[in-house]
Amino acid sequence: MREIVFLLNGERVELNGVPATRTLLDWLREDRGLTGTKEGCNEGDCGACTVMVSDGNGTRTLNSCILFLPQLHGKAVRTVEGVSGPDGSLHPVQKAMIRHHGSQCGFCTPGFVVSMACAHKNGKRDFDVQLAGNLCRCTGYAPIVRAAEDAASEPVPNWITEDCALPVAVTRSANGAASGLAPESADELAALYASHPDAVLVAGATDVGLTVTKALKEPERFLFLGGIQDLKAIDAGPKTVRIGAMATFSEVGDMIGDMHPDLGELIRRFGSVQVRNAATIGGNIANGSPVGDSPPALIALGTTLHLRRGNDRRDLPLEDFFLDYGVQDRAPGEFVEAVSFPRQADRLKCYKLSKRFDQDISAVCGCFNIRVQGGTVEEARIAFGGMAGIPKRARHVEDALSGKEWSEATIRAARDAWEKDFTPLTDLRASAAYRLEAARNLLTRAFLEDQGTETNVLEAAP
Ligand SMILES: Cc1cc2nc3c(=O)[nH]c(=O)nc-3n(C[C@H](O)[C@H](O)[C@H](O)COP(=O)(O)OP(=O)(O)OC[C@H]3O[C@@H](n4cnc5c(N)ncnc54)[C@H](O)[C@@H]3O)c2cc1C
Ligand code: FES
Ligand code: FES
Repeated sequence: MREIVFLLNGERVELNGVPATRTLLDWLREDRGLTGTKEGCNEGDCGACTVMVSDGNGTRTLNSCILFLPQLHGKAVRTVEGVSGPDGSLHPVQKAMIRHHGSQCGFCTPGFVVSMACAHKNGKRDFDVQLAGNLCRCTGYAPIVRAAEDAASEPVPNWITEDCALPVAVTRSANGAASGLAPESADELAALYASHPDAVLVAGATDVGLTVTKALKEPERFLFLGGIQDLKAIDAGPKTVRIGAMATFSEVGDMIGDMHPDLGELIRRFGSVQVRNAATIGGNIANGSPVGDSPPALIALGTTLHLRRGNDRRDLPLEDFFLDYGVQDRAPGEFVEAVSFPRQADRLKCYKLSKRFDQDISAVCGCFNIRVQGGTVEEARIAFGGMAGIPKRARHVEDALSGKEWSEATIRAARDAWEKDFTPLTDLRASAAYRLEAARNLLTRAFLEDQGTETNVLEAAP
């Protein structure tokens, strides 16, 4: 028997034999009649489908349109219908939305209310960040943010806190869906994947979800990795930082912000809260995207990728994993176990250029780790996304800087090296010429910032 067990608005649900790709959103609306949760984009961009999910790791918002039912096994889900109390009393954020006129057409409102209730529970007050993944076309954000601020000091209602206190009793045999399996340890995954190398691994499903909802693909077999705690471990030791493949960007961002603030800021602009709560570092590497945001930063930090197939493990520099567009150095049945990089003084500078500030894919993402001693560049590690078919090191530029004076003259002299490293494409995000010139300029920006020049591009010049 394969069943999925979870709590829905406080009530136990047991599902048998559901297709592995049934999304929570479709199931809520079509099978349960819970139509408060809305479908806007069906690709994780608008937040109309936001739900709250709790487990031993806390409570977070997720986009239910790209969340498969097996990912909920052992968790507690709260939809907008469960944000108000069992007796119908309103949650403080709902009362505040009414007081502040936070809704017009109301299509976005359920998603906002769930995001606000989750921020309220977690004591988060940075509402511009917390609500960046919820789009509203009618009301405008000011009344909604005012409502969130107004409700912040009210106590968290009991029915919201109960979700975390109630362990969802599940048996070991309850582990997946009709066409999916859910290993509970890296060892179990290694054995299963080695014997089913055709299976699609599902980590946070922020990419895989779209292959089902948008590309309409229906792979035959899935392995759901969400229950593998040992792949979630983050270990910031004195010499090495090791991050398990299943660590989400919310978890990585919380850890890395003090160590490498620019990387923390880059992660803050990765998708939205809902996306970061699901998206894993392993998925961001394994998908091989040329515009994934973490690979350039990790390559600049000198990251080693830890791969595993069965009981065989191998390590390689992260930059060597990306062979060509859509081609990675990964054998059938091999998976990403973790990444690690040396603990180092912070020199990392990360710049994400995108058409929108929040929740957009990079046109160019440049990361610089340049070690200067006595005015001379001792070591330069520079990596870019959006400049080639893969995330790529700028080795010619690095060579043009290494051993030279750290100065604008050296940067000017390195100008031609950029074209040896990169032949970018023109696409809907940027032209080839823009990309190349922007990359050059980012090195100048890294230099100026290093010299103490303020380069905040978010402030209009006086
Ligand atoms: C709305 C939205 C906004 C986004 N914004 C950004 C952004 O700003 N920056 C950015 O870089 N990306 C962004 N993405 C893309 C996506 O969120 C990331 O690539 C994410 O890191 C994928 O991780 P995941 O855990 O969701 O992977 P999944 O979707 O579960 O998997 C992705 C791929 O990796 C494979 N895989 C997963 N884990 C492993 C593993 N351990 N070993 C081997 N293979 C594995 C899967 O089989 C699949 O092929 C966005 C996506 C959405 C929907
Ligand atoms: S429907 Fe838009 S994020 Fe889910
Ligand atoms: S009230 Fe209409 S989209 Fe927000």
